[in-house]
Amino acid sequence: MALSSKIIGVGSYVPPNCYTNFDLEEMMDTSNEWIVQRSGIEKRHWVDDECTSDLALQAALKALKSADMAADELDMIILGTLSPDHEFPGTACFLQQKLGVPGIPAIDIRQQCTSFIYGLSMADVYIKSGQYKKILIVGAEVHSKGIDKTPQGRSISVLFGDGAGAVVLSATDVSDKGKEPGIIHTELRADGNFAKELWVPAPGSALGKDRISKEIMAERLHYPQMNGKVVFVHAVKRMSEILVGTLKKSGFTLEDVDLFLFHQANMRINDKVADVLHLPSEKVFNTIQDYGNTTAATIPLGMDKAIEDGVLKPGMLVAMAAFGSGFTWAASIVRF
Ligand code: ACO
Repeated sequence: MALSSKIIGVGSYVPPNCYTNFDLEEMMDTSNEWIVQRSGIEKRHWVDDECTSDLALQAALKALKSADMAADELDMIILGTLSPDHEFPGTACFLQQKLGVPGIPAIDIRQQCTSFIYGLSMADVYIKSGQYKKILIVGAEVHSKGIDKTPQGRSISVLFGDGAGAVVLSATDVSDKGKEPGIIHTELRADGNFAKELWVPAPGSALGKDRISKEIMAERLHYPQMNGKVVFVHAVKRMSEILVGTLKKSGFTLEDVDLFLFHQANMRINDKVADVLHLPSEKVFNTIQDYGNTTAATIPLGMDKAIEDGVLKPGMLVAMAAFGSGFTWAASIVRF
């Protein structure tokens, strides 16, 4: 027997207000046709007044309920977001307060679209070390308050949605790692040479005398900037190679996988990865058409929807892969 970790609860939440591409046509100079063709997105949810920890709380409560456990049984909270409640402290502290579990460690991670897999990897290592038994991992984003919803921002704003996803990871003893439920293997990567290909420059200490100022805002440095074509090429290459490499280290092949849960940056990226690796489309579960890119939330949100839809069932071999700002990329192989 060896100490391992397994997913015992999954949850997600999106705010009630749904905006279709036709709604966006009214706000910015765009069209349903352009958005669907370039991204596969048909609609997304944007908050009215909620903040990131509000969304995280709802997803966390659902994950705890599905794990049949109370929040005070948690040993640690790890939360990934690029749209925090405040500059500091981290949003995990606000989530911890809302969950009513003072005292346990609450950590924010800033890995953008790969946050969830990075968080899963950290939690897995803490559990396998024997230090903690039950860890909540959340990805949550409120993009809608940080994007430019005028024609000037349209190339980016149409892509992003608000939402949250969460899992509870628990210690377990396994005798046959690949066959019993659990995290089998996770790989993490980053290459800071590409940090400015997809980023939000402000507020920031690298901007001169002030982290934020009227001048910085006039230059629109507080809005996301993306070199879409570079992101596309690297996302396809990196997600494909890390998926194959992580499966190999886990002792599996692409054919062994029952379900692929990819980050939802853009349907064209996921279609291309599926094409390059010859993956059957019914094994790739996408949600971007309904929720847009919810960054740190996409994978746990997809996991929850796949369970709801009856697509993800106990015993399945699941391969997750993500790519995002940093650049960062990661993959994890899990027996569900
Ligand atoms: N509606 C209508 N027209 C638009 C819009 C819009 N929302 N945005 C841009 N356009 C116009 C441009 O002005 C341009 O017009 P022009 O030819 O008259 O100058 C034309 O569309 C093409 O613009 P590009 O910026 O070159 O658009 P591109 O074809 O590269 O598509 C896209 C943009 C969809 C982002 C593409 O680069 C892509 O798929 N990138 C992958 C990266 C990605 O999807 N990232 C998502 C988030 S990052 C992540 O999660 C990892």
